[in-house]
Amino acid sequence: MFVLGIETSCDETAACLLQCESDRVQILSEEISSQCELHQAYGGVVPELASREHLTNLPLVVDSVLSEAGKELGEIGLVGVTSGPGLKGCLLMGLSFVKALCLAKEIPFLCVNHIEGHIHAPRLDLLLEGRKLEYPYLALVVSGGHTELMKVSALGRYEVLARTIDDAAGEAFDKSANLLGFAYPGGAALASLADTIDHSRFKLPKVMRETEGFSFSGLKTAIALAIRENEAVLTSEQLAKAEMAHSIQEAIVEALCFKVKKALNESGLRRLAVTGGVAANLLLRRRCEELLPGGVSFPTMRHCMDNAAMIAYLAAERFASGERSNLDAQVHSRWPVETLNGGS
Ligand code: KG4
Ligand code: ZN
Repeated sequence: MFVLGIETSCDETAACLLQCESDRVQILSEEISSQCELHQAYGGVVPELASREHLTNLPLVVDSVLSEAGKELGEIGLVGVTSGPGLKGCLLMGLSFVKALCLAKEIPFLCVNHIEGHIHAPRLDLLLEGRKLEYPYLALVVSGGHTELMKVSALGRYEVLARTIDDAAGEAFDKSANLLGFAYPGGAALASLADTIDHSRFKLPKVMRETEGFSFSGLKTAIALAIRENEAVLTSEQLAKAEMAHSIQEAIVEALCFKVKKALNESGLRRLAVTGGVAANLLLRRRCEELLPGGVSFPTMRHCMDNAAMIAYLAAERFASGERSNLDAQVHSRWPVETLNGGS
């Protein structure tokens, strides 16, 4: 069966065409159109602009994946679309587009949860290599909008062990990057600079560890203070900027890994999946591998970021277990992943 995936929850318009036959999955074509440059001038995503861009880009990315794979709309057996969580207007563009397409072409469609998509991205990438990520596993979802640590027992069985009570890990990277003078989103640029050195003269406090969830607001204040106090040297010395980036990256990664280590010890789980945009961070990858040598899965760099391959794959999995969506399906700007429980 050919499955088309559509993702528009934030500032990426993505489409992907998957071929799924029982346990074999193949990506026939994939397109991710990023609006990053459009929003850079505003220092963050402008929801109204993002929605309009999706409206323009959706037919283009779908056309592009179909022609690259040499397929017609009529050959598609299922469309999977992100219907939450995310920016409401952006989600509405994707879902309305899919409803119109599926009504006109009489194709079944399935609404899927974006975070559940990230949770399954490492499974998809392993499957593409003919390997499997067996349940149960611990999943760390770290993106620009989410920081969640959960036990994944099966498709649709998620137990959230910790989530952020303020900023997301990606937000912590991006806001710090902004204070250091990087353009939005800045997380990856800060990480690249941090990776150029292995020491720092700047000391940042450890993130509060006693909180049940993740919390980055205290660290954010400490970073803002440290940058203000060292403004002169940071603006005149590139090495000082790299050292500050190094300390910031260390502090954020340490905060994430502290909770991962605790969850691994307490749950006894021996498989860990790290996913979402921040899973592209090389220090985080290294530290997680040190915690559980040989037991960690990451998506490919492309599938760490928002993408439609994970959405198509998840739709195919849920479709196989008998699910369908209908035309009165709605978008959900908030949609905690544990509310999906009860699946197979
Ligand atoms: O999953 P994603 O593409 O979008 C959301 O669902 O939010 O994640 C984007 C986030 C941004 O905050 C970006 O700065 C961060 O992932 N990011 C990184 C790196 N690459 C992307 N953060 C740290 N290190 C990186 N290498
Ligand atoms: Zn995401």
